[in-house]
Amino acid sequence: MRKFLICGNWKMHHNVEATRQTITDLAAQTKAFQHNVEVAVAPVATVLWVASSAARQTHVQLAAQNVHHAAKGAFTGEWSVSHLQELSVGMAIVGHSERRQYFGETDENVGKKVRALLDAHMTPIACVGETLSEREENRIVEVITRQMKPILQQVTPNEVSRLVIAYEPVWAIGTGKTATPLQAQEVHAFIRELLEKDFGSRAAQVRLLYGGSAKPDNAAELLCEPDIDGLLVGGASLDAASFASMVESASRTSKNSK
Ligand code: PGA
Repeated sequence: MRKFLICGNWKMHHNVEATRQTITDLAAQTKAFQHNVEVAVAPVATVLWVASSAARQTHVQLAAQNVHHAAKGAFTGEWSVSHLQELSVGMAIVGHSERRQYFGETDENVGKKVRALLDAHMTPIACVGETLSEREENRIVEVITRQMKPILQQVTPNEVSRLVIAYEPVWAIGTGKTATPLQAQEVHAFIRELLEKDFGSRAAQVRLLYGGSAKPDNAAELLCEPDIDGLLVGGASLDAASFASMVESASRTSKNSK
């Protein structure tokens, strides 16, 4: 029922040429899996124009790594949903922990960005996740509930199926420490419960991605979990072959062949 989504978050990597080449290679290497897996990449904002031309007429979708919630105005260094739409960018990551940590993005900002994206008929990939100390203090439920609240408040029942949530435990991002499938599933199930409280059976339509040191070696076991519907991948998405192997794992997962 929920089509897997594997999204690469290229952060501040890949210049014009690497972007063009990696998208071209990725499109070729994942073509055979497009029937049951959606593939997306989030390049650096300045190369979205070249990404857009490389991805045209392929199944590879584009995501921005951030977006401003306002339609236009005096917001130096930002861009709006309409700037993304001009480049055929259909998705945007919002609330990534690096944006929260280094650029002061708040839970409320994330909610507003989700609203702007839904208004533009784009797909928000809203990130949530606890730090190591929050996990050690048993505060996962509290943190995830706090981060999810302003997101859920912005979504109507008719829109909820377009929402994508990425659970990214901060301690697992770029550290090589992946959450175990069980640890990830526990939090995903909790996020699903939060969605159910507000949206009942429609919660089953929402895709929940896992992110944090996901790589070819662990993709299959994560994707087998009932509430893990895809991956948000940083480091292991920079290389087309590594990315494609995770897409292949998703395509072959038994959940997908049911
Ligand atoms: P990582 O990054 O896969 O390199 O841990 C994931 C992310 O930050 O989205």
